[in-house]
Amino acid sequence: MKEPVFLQACRRQPTPYTPVWLMRQAGRYMPEYRAVRDKVSFLELCKTPELAAQVTVEAVERLGVDAAIIFADILLIVEPMGVGLEFSQGDGPVIHRPLRSGRDIDRLHARPAAPSLGFVFEAVRRARAALPQEIALIGFAGAPFTVASYLIEGGGSRHYIETKRLMYADPGAWRALMAYLVQATTDYLNGQIAAGAQAVQLFDSWVGCLSPADYRSFILPHMQALIGGLAPGVPVIHFGTNTAGLLELLAEAGGDVIGVDWRTDLDAAWPRVGFDRAVQGNLDPVSLFAPLDILRGRTARVLDAAAGRPGHVFNLGHGILPHTPVEQVIALVELVHEMSAR
Ligand code: CP3
Repeated sequence: MKEPVFLQACRRQPTPYTPVWLMRQAGRYMPEYRAVRDKVSFLELCKTPELAAQVTVEAVERLGVDAAIIFADILLIVEPMGVGLEFSQGDGPVIHRPLRSGRDIDRLHARPAAPSLGFVFEAVRRARAALPQEIALIGFAGAPFTVASYLIEGGGSRHYIETKRLMYADPGAWRALMAYLVQATTDYLNGQIAAGAQAVQLFDSWVGCLSPADYRSFILPHMQALIGGLAPGVPVIHFGTNTAGLLELLAEAGGDVIGVDWRTDLDAAWPRVGFDRAVQGNLDPVSLFAPLDILRGRTARVLDAAAGRPGHVFNLGHGILPHTPVEQVIALVELVHEMSAR
């Protein structure tokens, strides 16, 4: 049995065409997803393995992508920590009791997170069983910095003032929080792998707010510990946005595949990441709102920048936006397959 094309590309093996999947490929832009969400809340959906597996698989069937990503959220891991997680309509995620001090962080340690996330592992098992062999299943988690930013700010943030304040003012507490999140995330991802995830993605979506020096001292050692603790042989995708100043450091921190957003061209990014890694990306998600001929041109530009080198996984530079036309997403997947065929 041949490996899925997506996994071959993660391992930098030559593939018959460039594989493509899209971050947030199951979501509100898709009518099938909205139909499920009309009946259950977002958290209920995540916690019902049958439904989570269903929306995971439906997205693949609708779009024709080469990989599925398990339907879940980077913040599920914080719920068992007892900080009061809520997904409020319109405002995004809210954490009712954010961490603001070393004492708040000490209190977390009594609460191991991963054992209470069995519903995600069950969704992975069900999705894997329902997917065709040639479609890979990706597991994921938030990276410690990005998850910590929600735990500390209490929600999304613009300047990450509380997060950086804690990092600068109490480096011991910061290290304790990182060590705690590294342990929880390692267990969580290894649980997804044991349940059938064939690759895992770490979303460090907001780490681009840090300077290179801060990344090196406050993040890099923890990412190395986390990635070093994952089951061997399973490709790790390391993704962040606004990382134009951090690409070398992201690669040094680890990952078989480095995710690149659209603010850096792939032909500039890849040599900086190193040709010993695969790259993933990096079409601007807003390109999907452009007329088809423009979308085609922009897709061609991303493929040209990768130059047919083994180890390119086509994706957007960040997640699909709400209101994205589904037909455009289907057209994008066809364009990538067609234009990259070799
Ligand atoms: O990619 C997929 O299809 C898998 C599912 C997935 C979701 N969230 C589902 C979701 C993934 C991979 C995520 C990751 C995630 N979650 C990130 C990192 C990705 C990124 O964009 O950088 C972050 C920062 C979160 C935290 C989060 N969850 C936010 C900020 C929001 C609100 C966003 C919004 O558009 O309202 C969520 C909720 C969420 N997670 C939704 C979905 C489909 C929308 C919930 C709904 O109303 O149905």
